[in-house]
Amino acid sequence: MSDNTKATNAMWGGRFAAGPDAIMEAINASIGFDQRLAQQDIEGSRAHAAMLASAGIITDSDAGAIREGLLTVLSEIEGGTFTFSTALEDIHMNVEARLSEIIGEPAGRLHTARSRNDQVALDFRMWVRGQTDAVCDGLIALNKALLIQAEAGADWVMPGFTHLQVAQPVTWGHHMMAYVEMFGRDLSRFQNARARMNECPLGAAALAGTSFPIDRHMTAKALGFDAPAANSLDAVADRDFALEFLAAASICAMHLSRFAEELVIWSSAQFRFVALSDRFSTGSSIMPQKKNPDAAELIRAKIGRIMGAMVGLFTVMKGLPLTYSKDMQEDKEQVFDAADNLMLAIAAMTGMVSDMSANKETLEAAASTGFSTATDLADWLVRALNMPFREAHHVTGALVALAESQNCDLPDLTLTDMQFVHEAITGDVFEVLGVHNSVASRVSYGGTAPSEVKKQIARWKEKLK
Ligand code: ARG
Repeated sequence: MSDNTKATNAMWGGRFAAGPDAIMEAINASIGFDQRLAQQDIEGSRAHAAMLASAGIITDSDAGAIREGLLTVLSEIEGGTFTFSTALEDIHMNVEARLSEIIGEPAGRLHTARSRNDQVALDFRMWVRGQTDAVCDGLIALNKALLIQAEAGADWVMPGFTHLQVAQPVTWGHHMMAYVEMFGRDLSRFQNARARMNECPLGAAALAGTSFPIDRHMTAKALGFDAPAANSLDAVADRDFALEFLAAASICAMHLSRFAEELVIWSSAQFRFVALSDRFSTGSSIMPQKKNPDAAELIRAKIGRIMGAMVGLFTVMKGLPLTYSKDMQEDKEQVFDAADNLMLAIAAMTGMVSDMSANKETLEAAASTGFSTATDLADWLVRALNMPFREAHHVTGALVALAESQNCDLPDLTLTDMQFVHEAITGDVFEVLGVHNSVASRVSYGGTAPSEVKKQIARWKEKLK
């Protein structure tokens, strides 16, 4: 090695006469963040070394030294004794340089039939795959917590809203199960994305493949992939796996945000539908009575940075010619941030859901306000009096107006009052005006009747087993 090479870069300094400007080094280096890929980088390199030996490209003894040495590097990184160098740019070169210090000459053979382009594609893909699995576990735990809430209050009535105006009575269990469906779709989105991302880019080398007799099926299998990626250009240029992760994360964060918003509303003094636990609330430094739903508010906000990460990476990737461009180094930080914050939001939501207690009496009292059984009344007019629905809608409207003018709810009207609006109404009508009868009657598939809700709970319990 000439002095020149040392002054520039030990990894690629052969054709360079001078080292980089300090600003060049600052903009170029990714080690500040891609050190999070250390474990994946070393796992990938160990599989690569084993394959090189099995294909007869390097000797067994060199491969053995490389694989052992890499474990030493990993333990240094995990133990916090490793010194990361900005001059060495990224995790790949930091690891390799240290390996070379530890084992000497054989380290230089590791990078045969490989490039940092397929290496980074591999490391990042494995990292995203791991996060995808963690998110799936988190979503399953969240849905299990929701199922417990749903089961406890499968027949508790509460107001169902449209436009945040009381619409029809529903059951608490039904409302909880709506979120189970939403997070269930999130789960399947992450599972689908995982299935698509599970192709191994290693061995695509810089972009064109390699003339060495490598066995890409062997490394793909060793690293838990279904198959090697079938096109070397695509293998190094593709970041769909990260985009799909962020897209699924954005939708999931949007769901979390909607639920968080409901918890903020429900826990207010005006609603009192739920009490959040002290463990997931905070106080105020000036107002002693306050118990603030900070965790819910922060979950509500997380969508901002997570969706921002998605838009950010789309913007980086759009318009990039095949194959690798250095722009793609900007793919990692926002994915790291989005993954960390999604995991945190899911965990916090799971904690809040497990701890919260719904106020059965308040929910039921609220369910009867706002003429919530007006639709039941209209449906009764159709069924009992054979009235066309449009006319029934009109008659019910007149009854609601009457109740409003008397400052009472629909069940408080007298039969005489009702017959004043329509003479054919009979006393049977009062049966459909109660909120319990109302929800019990909604037995259509997916409806709010406790009997239906219990079926859905049973189906999900089986599914999440
Ligand atoms: N640090 C780089 C990244 O994160 C690794 C790949 C570099 N490849 C290259 N040809 N410069 O994208």
